[in-house]
Amino acid sequence: MASDLPCILYFFFFLLFPSSLVAQRNGNATVGDSLIAGDEATLWLSPAEDFAFGFRQLDKKDLYLLAIWYNKIPDKTIVWYANGDRPAPKMLNNPQGGEIWKSGPSNGEAAYGFMNDTGNFLVANANGEKLWQSFELLTDTLLPTQIMEKGGILSSRLSETNFSQGRFQFRLIQDGNAVLNTINLPTGFPYEAYFWSNTVDSNSSNAGYQVVFNESGYLYVLRASNK
Ligand SMILES: *[C@@H]1O[C@H](CO)[C@@H](O)[C@H](O)[C@H]1NC(C)=O
Ligand SMILES: *[C@@H]1O[C@H](CO)[C@@H](O)[C@H](O)[C@H]1NC(C)=O
Ligand SMILES: *[C@@H]1O[C@H](CO)[C@@H](O)[C@H](O)[C@H]1NC(C)=O
Ligand SMILES: *[C@@H]1O[C@H](CO)[C@@H](O)[C@H](O)[C@H]1NC(C)=O
Ligand SMILES: *[C@@H]1O[C@H](CO)[C@@H](O)[C@H](O)[C@H]1NC(C)=O
Repeated sequence: MASDLPCILYFFFFLLFPSSLVAQRNGNATVGDSLIAGDEATLWLSPAEDFAFGFRQLDKKDLYLLAIWYNKIPDKTIVWYANGDRPAPKMLNNPQGGEIWKSGPSNGEAAYGFMNDTGNFLVANANGEKLWQSFELLTDTLLPTQIMEKGGILSSRLSETNFSQGRFQFRLIQDGNAVLNTINLPTGFPYEAYFWSNTVDSNSSNAGYQVVFNESGYLYVLRASNK
């Protein structure tokens, strides 16, 4: 499908020799804009500059992670990342550059990207309809206003500086339970949960269907009946 969607891919092309680059300060990125690993000046900031989207250099290595982080605190804590297990090398073997990650198939042509002050980076079409959003691709952090749907997995990273999959998961499983479990590495096989929310119900409208982290900081399982 990728060949049908040239526009959306531009957002995440990794270019060695950019022809143009623009530091975005209103949250908006237009089709054709690029982010350059190793160039701290190319960031896409949310309107209030609370969050930034760009490449982060990994600890003392020439490796870069496409990420979203808190921009206004000294730690610049990363809250989302792509390709945790395959960070981008600064130099690509192919002199033309290459695609290392894309946001995945979408239905429609991208018109712009937007780094929201909630920490959600989204790609929208010309009508403002969301084609893709980082909030739907869970990594290791839920932010206020973010929702985990059934089947969603929040996964720890291996260590503070290694973003490969770690041993701990928080999942909303099909029966409606939100569970904590460990996994086997490297197979990824999930072991039996050591915590569950007890939100299973034979009547599916009373079973959990979303984990919500709301704006006030409450984390809860919402039942299909909206309770
Ligand atoms: C971002 O771009 C879209 C489409 O051009 C526009 O509708 C929107 O108002 C822009 N947002 C900001 C914050 O500039
Ligand atoms: C950004 O987040 C706010 C608060 O959740 C929301 O009202 C707004 O629609 C979002 N902007 C876009 C472009 O999605
Ligand atoms: C992260 O840890 C994994 C497993 O030990 C290792 O294969 C990988 O190379 C590490 N990644 C980085 C960027 O150090
Ligand atoms: C399932 O629960 C909903 C909401 O509590 C209730 O209205 C409905 O009657 C229940 N259905 C059955 C078959 O018990
Ligand atoms: C968040 O959830 C709590 C508990 O249900 C509720 O009291 C609060 O009003 C909610 N906050 C928002 C902003 O919806």
